[in-house]
Amino acid sequence: MPTKTREPKRNALYAQSGGVTAVINASAAGVIEACRKHSKRIGKLYAGRHGIVGALTEDLIDTSRESAAAIKALRHTPAGAFGSARYKLKSIEQDRAKYERLIEVFRAHNIGYFFYNGGNDSMDTALKVSKIGAELGYPITCVGVPKTVDNDLPVTDCCPGFGSVAKYVAVSTREAALDVASMARTSTKVFILEVMGRHAGWIAAAGGLAGKGNGDAPHIILFPEIPFEQKPFLDRVRQCVTERGYCVIVVSEGVKGAGGKFLAEAGTTDAFGHTQLGGAGPEIARIVKDGLGYKYHWAVADYLQRAARHIASKTDVLQAYAVGKAAVEFALKGQNAVLPVIKRISSKPYRWTIVSAPLEAVANVEKKVPREFVTEDGFGITAACRRYLEPLIAGEDFPPFKGGLPTYVELKNAPVRRKLATDFKV
Ligand code: F6P
Repeated sequence: MPTKTREPKRNALYAQSGGVTAVINASAAGVIEACRKHSKRIGKLYAGRHGIVGALTEDLIDTSRESAAAIKALRHTPAGAFGSARYKLKSIEQDRAKYERLIEVFRAHNIGYFFYNGGNDSMDTALKVSKIGAELGYPITCVGVPKTVDNDLPVTDCCPGFGSVAKYVAVSTREAALDVASMARTSTKVFILEVMGRHAGWIAAAGGLAGKGNGDAPHIILFPEIPFEQKPFLDRVRQCVTERGYCVIVVSEGVKGAGGKFLAEAGTTDAFGHTQLGGAGPEIARIVKDGLGYKYHWAVADYLQRAARHIASKTDVLQAYAVGKAAVEFALKGQNAVLPVIKRISSKPYRWTIVSAPLEAVANVEKKVPREFVTEDGFGITAACRRYLEPLIAGEDFPPFKGGLPTYVELKNAPVRRKLATDFKV
């Protein structure tokens, strides 16, 4: 009988990209454990130190030096264990030197699989890298791993990272609402929470889960999808304080005025040309103070919300792990230029599965909150939105605690010996 010749083993590279989340490391654990399981077909799994920047500068991490226990602990550790990067690769024609450098590094380390864990911009980079086989003659299987707290990737029902931020924001809104309700008679009347999400109001919408509707807090949600108008907003705040004694507001960082200008910008842009947002909360507070004179408090949830692994959604953790694992399985089936996405089978009971989608369909596209998820007055979420969101924050997956604090893993992140003589400036 003729013996079956096995394809030569190639190594893999995993890189984290963009803003990190409470569960991106759970995806990393999914990728790493799947690669270890398929060690007959995949050689070593390296990680880019600070994502694609590590790949370009040949600053690679050898994940095989980490114990099984350390990789398991990644599941409950927030942020990017290997470091992330906001770094733009233009088209192959415009940035040829960078792609050639990537190939040089890939070839030197026999990289045949590339797993890129990020959001819309990163899926665009992954798509470009997936083409270096056809366009520059280096065979590679490139699979995206979806992640973003903004929940704005199309095709997938939701994005790993979002469920946990949504849960943190809903929990914090409910708790802060109890606080202001206690104080309102003689002190604070308005509490404002600013949340992330860039141009999409998914995180702000999640604040709506804090109450059950019927006048529960939050009383006002300000979405980037709904142009902000001062008069109806102030009228609503006044009415709420008059009727209930206090008003709780969740404002998205991406809220824009009628002229299409952000209510607040930090004045800087990132590598992708995105304006750094932040400051909508204090701006809304100023508007309330100037217009109505109420005593207020405001909070900007900022990094607290996307790092909040202590109150992560169990659903989110499971999905983050599942997309990491599926990415490896798709790569082994020879699927290039795809990413695993979450498909909702039913909402009640919540059932989901993972399917493969082309990177092309996801790269650079932003999925906004649809109008039917926002109440007619523009200040709240509808029952349909609630039905969509509720399962995503379901379940708890607490990290282990020691001495009153969560215990998170710090990896060795041992460097891979460099093979190239040349340095590369990024
Ligand atoms: O895209 C995810 C996100 O958390 C946005 O919601 C936020 O505007 C942005 O990242 C902040 O990015 P950075 O950490 O690079 O300032």
